[in-house]
Amino acid sequence: MDKNLMMERAEIVVGAVDDLPTIPIIATKVLQLLNNPDVRVEEIADLMLTDQVMTARVMKLLNSPVYKPTQEISSLKRALVYLGLRHIRELALTTSVIHAFDTTTGALELNAFWEHSFGVGMVSKIIAKKIGFLDSEKAYISGILHDLGEVFLSSFLREPFMKVLEYVETHSVKLVDAEEELLGTTHCEIGLSMARKWNFPDSYCDVISYHHNPGRAKVDPMLCSIVNLADLFCAVRGLNYGGRVLISFNLCEEEAWGILMHAYPRLAQMDVERFCYELDDAIPDVTALVSSMFATS
Ligand SMILES: [Fe+2]
Ligand SMILES: [Fe+2]
Repeated sequence: MDKNLMMERAEIVVGAVDDLPTIPIIATKVLQLLNNPDVRVEEIADLMLTDQVMTARVMKLLNSPVYKPTQEISSLKRALVYLGLRHIRELALTTSVIHAFDTTTGALELNAFWEHSFGVGMVSKIIAKKIGFLDSEKAYISGILHDLGEVFLSSFLREPFMKVLEYVETHSVKLVDAEEELLGTTHCEIGLSMARKWNFPDSYCDVISYHHNPGRAKVDPMLCSIVNLADLFCAVRGLNYGGRVLISFNLCEEEAWGILMHAYPRLAQMDVERFCYELDDAIPDVTALVSSMFATS
């Protein structure tokens, strides 16, 4: 189906929801400020402190086992100065986006969904570091956000989306293809429509829209390719949710691989088998992170 038609349909579907979750304006502002390379950490901390709910969530997360502080962190400003700008972007977004969809009534099991998302985030970051991609934290966040449209479908198109999930189980098709066939749009267009409403920076919008066809990306094909591969790795390693369980895939045949190889020839030296073992080791960290995020609600 034509991407423009699917986008039009997504805009209608998203536009029809009156109570679309919002993410705090502050989170969007923090993201925009962080796009400026000269921003100071104190500036961001001051901005975050104007949102008490976000401050409380960030403080809880900072004191969780994930960040393993040696002593309790009581000042947000000091903590952020200590953690640095990169982690602020991660904290502002993840605490906001997860809580925007803090619903248990959707078609998807949210824990499994966020485990997939954080898994893809983590693997994206590892790939980014391995190939020397400039901003590995951006790869991490893109990975976390890539399937955002799915939570919308799960919450606001519950019944039709349940049929999609059933269809995936009975016909051996990808979730994204089943969505296109049954809903006339996919989580990529739905996610893009939401990301635009939330004023996400362009590169995140690009990943949300093109992580299944990185070759068509408009802004950052490298970033889309990194997330695309991370998504495949996670599906193979069992970090999946409702999508078809992928048994294996041939890296060399993937479009994303070709795109990355072209720009980063050192990828050819990567030991894929060893890399998969590394990922298995990291899975318990992802599970711990997700349960501690939900504990902050
Ligand atoms: Fe996806
Ligand atoms: Fe995914």
